[in-house]
Amino acid sequence: MNSEKCCVATSEKIVDKNYWDAQYKANTIGWDLGEIAPPIKQYIDTITDKNKRILIPGCGNTYESEYLLNKGFTNITVIDIAPTLVEKLKTKFKDNKAITILLGDFFEHQGTYDIIIEQTFFCALAPALRQKYVWKMHQHLADNGILTGLLFNRNFEMSPPFGGSQKEYLALFKGAFAIVKMEMAQNSSVPRANSELFFEFKKNNQVKVTLYKLEGSTETIIQKLNALPNAINVSMSTDFMELLLVSQKEIPIEELQIIISHDKKHTIKKF
Ligand SMILES: C[S@@+](CC[C@H](N)C(=O)[O-])C[C@H]1O[C@@H](n2cnc3c(N)ncnc32)[C@H](O)[C@@H]1O
Repeated sequence: MNSEKCCVATSEKIVDKNYWDAQYKANTIGWDLGEIAPPIKQYIDTITDKNKRILIPGCGNTYESEYLLNKGFTNITVIDIAPTLVEKLKTKFKDNKAITILLGDFFEHQGTYDIIIEQTFFCALAPALRQKYVWKMHQHLADNGILTGLLFNRNFEMSPPFGGSQKEYLALFKGAFAIVKMEMAQNSSVPRANSELFFEFKKNNQVKVTLYKLEGSTETIIQKLNALPNAINVSMSTDFMELLLVSQKEIPIEELQIIISHDKKHTIKKF
């Protein structure tokens, strides 16, 4: 069933730096297409300004970067958490000033980009990190910046990869990004045919996207927060520990605390 053979883990397994590094060490990298995904190649061919600041998070062997470099792009940054892989990339792209190769956790990275390319990074993350992913992508993009790439439109029996659907993604990104495009990719690599969505999201500069840490809260608060006059989209991580709030302007924390603290154990703090 799991033709992607991404990894050997189940969703309960901890998918962290050690996990990913072990996959590169053992060469169990079934997700690796061995080439740039055709829908991403097609998108890159439409970018006329070669000086755009481009980020590729969870870059893996980053065939996208090879393609971008060959096309003359001058400002590419890639980041991955797996040391074994990053060491290899540093040798491969040695002395190339157009690409910056970073070893680290995307969620701790700081930087501003015009375009962020998503290629099997979102699906590599535990679903509880999805709210944080939206928040971080919004933060990393310059005004009107673009988040683009591929997302699975299916679920998997073994994870990672962690799948999803168009409906889920639209609900998750709502408000923080304008949906320029989201459709079934027509030119996927053969193993991913009819299973992935090509998307192009434009950062919405007009809103505040805030992530909060929660303690003791349940999904029932979502409705209450959504009813706030300034709220555009409220969602909670699957482990109930993080809350993503997209609003017209920042809502004072005291106001949020009053709404959720019908029990003193319930707390909310800005990330
Ligand atoms: C499924 S692989 C995809 C790699 C590459 N994008 C590709 O399509 O071949 C997921 C990648 O994300 C990296 N990764 C996972 N969590 C990360 C994090 N928090 N920060 C940076 N990289 C991460 C892993 O090391 C791995 O290389």
